[in-house]
Amino acid sequence: MPRFHTIDDVDVAGKRVLVRADLNVPVKNGKVADATRIERAALTIEALAAKGAKVVVMSHFGRPKGRDPSQSLRPLVGPLSRAIGGKEVQFASDCIAPAAKAVVDALKPGEVALLENLRFHPEEEKNDPGFARQLAELGDVYVDDAFSAAHRAHASIEALAHLLPNAAGKLMQAELLALGAALEHPQRPVMALVGGAKVSTKLDLLKFIVGKVDRLAIGGAMANTFLFAQGHGVGRSMCEKELAAGAREVLSNAEKQGCRVILPDDVVIADKLEAGATTSIVGVDAVPGNTMILDIGPRSVARLEAALLECKTLVWNGPVGAFETPPFERATLALANKVAELTTAGKLLSVAGGGDTVAALAAAGVADRFSYVSTAGGAFLEWLEGRALPGVVALAPDDHA
Ligand code: 3PG
Repeated sequence: MPRFHTIDDVDVAGKRVLVRADLNVPVKNGKVADATRIERAALTIEALAAKGAKVVVMSHFGRPKGRDPSQSLRPLVGPLSRAIGGKEVQFASDCIAPAAKAVVDALKPGEVALLENLRFHPEEEKNDPGFARQLAELGDVYVDDAFSAAHRAHASIEALAHLLPNAAGKLMQAELLALGAALEHPQRPVMALVGGAKVSTKLDLLKFIVGKVDRLAIGGAMANTFLFAQGHGVGRSMCEKELAAGAREVLSNAEKQGCRVILPDDVVIADKLEAGATTSIVGVDAVPGNTMILDIGPRSVARLEAALLECKTLVWNGPVGAFETPPFERATLALANKVAELTTAGKLLSVAGGGDTVAALAAAGVADRFSYVSTAGGAFLEWLEGRALPGVVALAPDDHA
């Protein structure tokens, strides 16, 4: 368990407290599809406001290349305000002076402001010291509550933590406590279930994970790359064909390290990703060229359920199908229910993470029946690998100027 200060160790009354939150929430048709991250960040914001701090919330949103109005944090002002009991949230149209300074200077103790998307400035992702100094000018204390972004050595996460007295927020504390307890000495066999679309951001992680877990189940669009790498046709499915060699490396590393990889053997296909689309179930060796794989099939679900029965610990990141679009949510929901059932029966320690995963568990109504649900995606997987996360390392006490 890393050492860090908490917000109870720092005097914040009347001070400007820069809170690095992760408000990178899933948004669908302009509406927040899952507010879990906002609600979990609210605990720290409310606690600081109650202590009389001037609370300045910072976050990234999406992966904009420069200023991009479609990725503004402004639409989150309402949801954030609701999450903190209806308290008003001021919005600054930039995260640095002069726009941010004007809003922060006008804050009174107990008031809250939200700054515009940090990633509108490319310096954020470069961990630029000058940009971190510009952020530091807006606060007296720095609180990192963004465990889910702690794997990014970005200016608001890494460089900034060294410039001000720092502390971990309540969510950061809860994540470190729960994941540390669950993953440092897991009961074996351990299974990782990794799904979702971001294969390009998860392939390197998978290469390490096969050395840590006993079973690796792969689902979602990322499984298509593995199926393609094994010589299966994947039709018009999402598939990063250029990563086939990397996928084969994962499979061969897994074999060498005694990790059983479970790929789908049947899939749900359709002509298009559309609600209510006509679907068929086919074996992975029989996907027609003009169709798309959009979920794993019932035989694959049954195999995963059987594998779960053999395991004591499950780490789950990413849905196994296009679960936002019915009927492609079925396998994810069936598995979520099975995991909840085994967890409730005391047979499985289940740890899940990732914005989409959290939304899927919420849709299944089982999130509170898992052992722990993290708000993190990539950070969650890197934590599983045992990697030092820059955002956590930077919180080491007495490491600020
Ligand atoms: C996440 O959603 O995992 C975090 O917010 C980090 O986002 P990123 O992968 O765009 O850095």
